[in-house]
Amino acid sequence: MNVLVTGGTGFIGSHATIALLKKDHDVTIVDNLSNSKIDTLRAIENVSLKKVRFIELDLLDIKALDCLFKKNKFDIVIHFAGSKSVNESIEKPLKYYFNNVYSSIILSQIMKKYDVKKIIFSSSATVYGEPADIPLKESSKVSILNPYAASKYYIENYFREYQKQNKDWKIILLRYFNPIGAHESGLIGESPKVPHNNLMPYILKVASKESEYLQVFGDDYDTEDGTGVRDFIHIMDLAEAHVSSLDFISSNQGPDGFCNIFNIGTGKGYSVLEIIETFSKVNNIEIPYKIVDRRPGDVSQSYTDVSLAKKSLNWKAKKDLSDMCRDVWRWKSSQLKKNN
Ligand code: WQD
Repeated sequence: MNVLVTGGTGFIGSHATIALLKKDHDVTIVDNLSNSKIDTLRAIENVSLKKVRFIELDLLDIKALDCLFKKNKFDIVIHFAGSKSVNESIEKPLKYYFNNVYSSIILSQIMKKYDVKKIIFSSSATVYGEPADIPLKESSKVSILNPYAASKYYIENYFREYQKQNKDWKIILLRYFNPIGAHESGLIGESPKVPHNNLMPYILKVASKESEYLQVFGDDYDTEDGTGVRDFIHIMDLAEAHVSSLDFISSNQGPDGFCNIFNIGTGKGYSVLEIIETFSKVNNIEIPYKIVDRRPGDVSQSYTDVSLAKKSLNWKAKKDLSDMCRDVWRWKSSQLKKNN
């Protein structure tokens, strides 16, 4: 299929592009490079040994987007582009509503003008906030705790309503849990322009001696070892979920459209201390840490039931925590060697 990937030089978009190219899809990436690097393109091509078209473009630039669709007959859009920092969204909420929500509305209008009626949207498990039930299901109650989560939920609702008025549209909304790791080649991984305060980037800072120790935000949660529990998923498993979603849409070519939500995680919850211990073990690197106060806004545990994605998308995560920790360190080590 002829696939447009928005935000395709980002962490998830670039790894999904590699998975798409592996299945011989034609991929065009658009990205405004506000939080990713052009080098990622070369990395995608080095890993996939295939060319990928790239246009630097901001989805808010209606004219440029219209011109892109006029020149290309896309079959489907996979929409990753958007700002993704919870903290930043609290400081700059309007940026998130404008950048994430408005650009998605523009994208849908241009798609409609050029008769492109299939889209896979990158949503987030952050819409669940403090989980009402564990493991989470797609039917679990949402609880919006920050503007980032709000922006993702507004876009989900927009597409749900849009499909009710455009019945032949086929829409899949993927709620990602916590993606970590890197492609096994070590040639590509997470390299944002704006550093974000997620767990794995900080573990890598300690592992590469850029930081003395890791701060563990609280060990008084109601979990086995008291530290936060999350459904960490290997980035390549998450990438494959997009290929499976595309296959699902392709195999449902009938006139009737749909708008389906899927939780994309491993179905397992790993605690912060388990991540630290696994990372240390598989990479034989000490990760000193100190228990500090809880981080405001953190939930105690979040992991998902994965039966719906298995049943409908025939997709299930294959890689385990050791793979995630081994692959991410291989990437980081290659970056350290390159920069020294
Ligand atoms: C995980 C656990 C922390 C850093 C994020 C955001 C958002 C989303 C991915 C897209 C928690 C603990 C962390 C540290 C720590 N992306 N931690 N020390 O908070 O689950 O949510 O998920 O949607 O970026 O919603 O991920 O990696 O920030 O934290 O102890 O230095 O690690 O308290 O328990 P989180 P995270």
